[in-house]
Amino acid sequence: MLFAKNLSHSFDYLLFENVNLEINPKDKVAIVGSSGSGKSTLLHILSTFLKPKKGEVFYKGKNIYKLKEKELIEIRRREFGIIFQFHYLFNTFTAYENLQAAALLADREVDFKLLKRLKIDKVIHQNIQTLSGGQQQRVSIARVLTKKPKVIFADEPTGNLDKENANEVIDILFEYCDENDASLIVVTHDMEIAKRFKSCYLLKDKRLIAKPIRS
Ligand SMILES: Nc1ncnc2c1ncn2[C@@H]1O[C@H](COP(=O)(O)OP(=O)(O)O)[C@@H](O)[C@H]1O
Ligand SMILES: [Mg+2]
Repeated sequence: MLFAKNLSHSFDYLLFENVNLEINPKDKVAIVGSSGSGKSTLLHILSTFLKPKKGEVFYKGKNIYKLKEKELIEIRRREFGIIFQFHYLFNTFTAYENLQAAALLADREVDFKLLKRLKIDKVIHQNIQTLSGGQQQRVSIARVLTKKPKVIFADEPTGNLDKENANEVIDILFEYCDENDASLIVVTHDMEIAKRFKSCYLLKDKRLIAKPIRS
């Protein structure tokens, strides 16, 4: 479904080269690597936000960097859900208004069961800036799931959470994928989290390599 071929990228220096990755419905993939290895950059490339210096990314057989603007917007609105490392919630709005905006753009409804599951149902009418970092992170996850995406890209989605809550968020993302035939790509530096994924890749020495998981 999502297929990356021979990706290379550099800013001031070469970050990675010859990166290949294939993701199919229900696949759950973790990408680990030290800070600065290019994990976030790779995620941006896979999710339509950064054209790689070399290589191609195909989604449903089409090169995402050769799509017409309209097709690209459709994919971003409805098919891809991106949980960024730093959330981009509207700070002066309530959590609920943030979710409504996402629902409206994707022609979906806000799912109250999900809010309960994410433990944000009681704070949903508060302004974003009055929520804790962890609550904000959960709202940003709810916002993405509200869209009912087919591929979720998540950059350190559990970065602001304690261990128990981090595991619970991963449970929710896994459940979502199984119930919706969606796939999940998570970038994390947390090996405890990475171990929960069947498929794990390591970005190291400018290459992406499959990493066998021992647990
Ligand atoms: N837009 C950019 N312009 C220039 N350099 C960048 C940009 N984005 C990231 N970098 C650099 O690329 C390297 C990898 O960054 P990043 O992909 O964020 O790594 P990671 O997520 O693995 O920590 C870092 O050295 C970072 O400073
Ligand atoms: Mg990063």
